[in-house]
Amino acid sequence: MKTVALIVAAGKGERTGATLPKQYAPLAGRAMLAWSHQAFGDHPAIDEVLVVIGAGQEALLAAAVPGARHVTGGATRRESVAAGLAALDGADLVLVHDAARPFLSAAVIDRLIAALATHDGAVPVLPVADTLVNADGANVPREALRRVQTPQAFRFVTLAAAHRAWRGGEATDDAQMVRALGGSVALVQGDTMLEKITYPGDIAAAEARLGRETRSA
Ligand code: CTP
Ligand code: MG
Repeated sequence: MKTVALIVAAGKGERTGATLPKQYAPLAGRAMLAWSHQAFGDHPAIDEVLVVIGAGQEALLAAAVPGARHVTGGATRRESVAAGLAALDGADLVLVHDAARPFLSAAVIDRLIAALATHDGAVPVLPVADTLVNADGANVPREALRRVQTPQAFRFVTLAAAHRAWRGGEATDDAQMVRALGGSVALVQGDTMLEKITYPGDIAAAEARLGRETRSA
């Protein structure tokens, strides 16, 4: 059984407002990308880590994670995942992860891989804490809703087929593409440490959260 981690890191990080793409920004002493790369590299069930980078970002990658295996991504996240899948030969399971979610625990990886024994895919989710309304202000019951994180784990052939068959425009995650083909996707417990870095201030907030978690551990 060969299990590969695919880290998508070809985005521009425009919403952070910074020039340097966020996945290469320093975060608690190292580049953001290095955190999840190491989490996968250290996990005994992960055989290989492949990073999907933006065109011309080889030097940034080499500085962040020396020697990392990589391919060049596309204009959208979906295209970047597809580029990564095309470069993977003979994988049985694949975990697709956002470089923008640095703090990945071995426990989340364990839960995802365990769920693949009975499902085509597995995604980490968290409950919604805020009250929700639609754009007209009407209340939306939150009890039935979940927030979806990455990594998202799949049988490789299922995800590759889902990408080939997808005609739905821009997908924001891979699980919806697998479900569109009738695949079963398990929901496993996510992790507040896996929040995505998106806006200015998110890096400082993530560092503060890491400090709190480390002190309480
Ligand atoms: N991503 C990618 N290729 C793209 C776009 C996004 O590999 N063409 C990756 C990003 O690098 C990130 C993940 O997908 O790790 C989630 O995307 P997002 O948080 O939206 O990152 P960016 O697209 O870089 O940020 P923004 O949308 O603010 O520009
Ligand atoms: Mg984006």
